[in-house]
Amino acid sequence: MTDLDRKQDRAPVPKDWTYAPAPESRDIVRLRERYGHFIGGEWIEPAETYQTISPATEEPLALIGEGTEGEVDAAVVAARDAFANGWSALPGSERAKYLFRIARILQERSREFAVLESLNGGKPIKESRDVDLPLAAAHFFYYAGWADKLEYAFPNRRPKPVGVAGQIIPWNFPLLMLAWKIAPALACGNTVVLKPAETTPLTALLFCDVLRQAELPPGVVNIVTGDGRTGAAIVDHPGVDKIAFTGSTEVGKAIQRRLAGTGKKLTLELGGKAANIVFDDCALDQAVEGIVNGIYFNQGHVCCAGSRLFAQESIYEPLVDKLKRRLETLRVGDPLDKNTDVGAINSKMQLERIVELVEAGKDEGAEIYQPPCRLPEKGYWFVPTVFTNVAQSYRIAQEEIFGPVLSVLTFRTPEEAVEKANNTPYGLSAGVWTEKGSRILWMAQRLRAGVVWANTFNRFDPTSPFGGYKESGFGREGGLHGLEPYLRFDE
Ligand code: NAI
Ligand code: MG
Repeated sequence: MTDLDRKQDRAPVPKDWTYAPAPESRDIVRLRERYGHFIGGEWIEPAETYQTISPATEEPLALIGEGTEGEVDAAVVAARDAFANGWSALPGSERAKYLFRIARILQERSREFAVLESLNGGKPIKESRDVDLPLAAAHFFYYAGWADKLEYAFPNRRPKPVGVAGQIIPWNFPLLMLAWKIAPALACGNTVVLKPAETTPLTALLFCDVLRQAELPPGVVNIVTGDGRTGAAIVDHPGVDKIAFTGSTEVGKAIQRRLAGTGKKLTLELGGKAANIVFDDCALDQAVEGIVNGIYFNQGHVCCAGSRLFAQESIYEPLVDKLKRRLETLRVGDPLDKNTDVGAINSKMQLERIVELVEAGKDEGAEIYQPPCRLPEKGYWFVPTVFTNVAQSYRIAQEEIFGPVLSVLTFRTPEEAVEKANNTPYGLSAGVWTEKGSRILWMAQRLRAGVVWANTFNRFDPTSPFGGYKESGFGREGGLHGLEPYLRFDE
């Protein structure tokens, strides 16, 4: 018997490499049966309610207020009152103290928030724990640092707060989008009325607890829940000075039309159809990881997702082979399992939209690949999908799918890559994979996208501005640029 044989005898190589379940406990989250609106620092009993569920199990979680015009009005009045009677006149260094406190409390309670985010939204706990929560806290820390330095950020321009900010956010990064909106608004001395998305209200409601813990003055942040009608009431309210919206291009356009001529400030962060461009000289395995992270992260519910892969023809085959093999290792299932890579689709509505576009891709003649995969019986799920043989004119190459679906196209020269990448109504992000620094710069100058990642994808940092070109919207969030929409410089 050789040494090797003996060793194998004692520790046989397992035949089955599947992971045992590693579920995160739900006990840390205490849900109430029903939630009202958070207005003027108090919970207000809502006139109407609806049920929020877990998309992974379809289990009802809590009753949520369906905000009416009257409730939105009460929130705006509370925000105006807090603005006029203290908050806007507070020295920046005092405002900063509250923001630092909020950031620290989010860190302390991060596990609770991560579990709740995954429960209500369907994203893997590994992502809510390692991405959403740390980034949300980082945003509050970062903007806390600017609160007393606005005069230095905008020298000789006498920055002043705008007033009451109405903020409407989507369901793909519920707490993180809340942080992106609230942190710069408060740092600049504004007060806020925020509406979370109808399918994911719970972390925003838990955040009200954090506001109380931080002893933020009542009315500085008000949270009103509800669907598009509640959002429209915020947009139309004459007491709101600025609207910040993240969501679909369709609703963004409607908001812009409604605000025309009102003098309200507006920033829009809308959809995307990002090109992820892979040259033949890149580190191929690293690129495959980047592609997977670019489109399957958060079930592809990401506005800057790398949903169009452009492979240089000379490496098309090995790249697609590696990608398909990598897909087989993705674990789809329980969002609260720490080994899950791809969680539940956020809602039935979103699942229907994904299915519709995938059917269109098949009908138009693209070739579909889906790895073998057993999906849970209840809840909303979609297998990670790759389409090859995609023409630029296909709907799956043009429209935002907002799901775990990648369309692969090819190119020969850098010029062709740029031309094809820019052939979209959107312009939020792009990725370039190449060993050549000069080519990265050449590409970055020509790609019409707010963010261009080089040899990485979906990287975020509060110090770095984020936003779109064309139908992806306007205005920037994050960084110094993210302060500007919350300031006026007119005196
Ligand atoms: P949506 O744009 O309708 O929802 C986003 C937010 O806007 C939610 O809070 C919603 O309640 C609110 N809203 C809806 N109608 C409104 C109105 N008339 N006035 C004011 N607020 C309104 O997006 P939806 O319907 O959830 O998703 C549809 C598609 O939009 C997705 O398939 C995806 O392609 C895209 N989308 C893009 C997002 C992004 O981050 N860029 C986020 C969410 C969706
Ligand atoms: Mg909608």
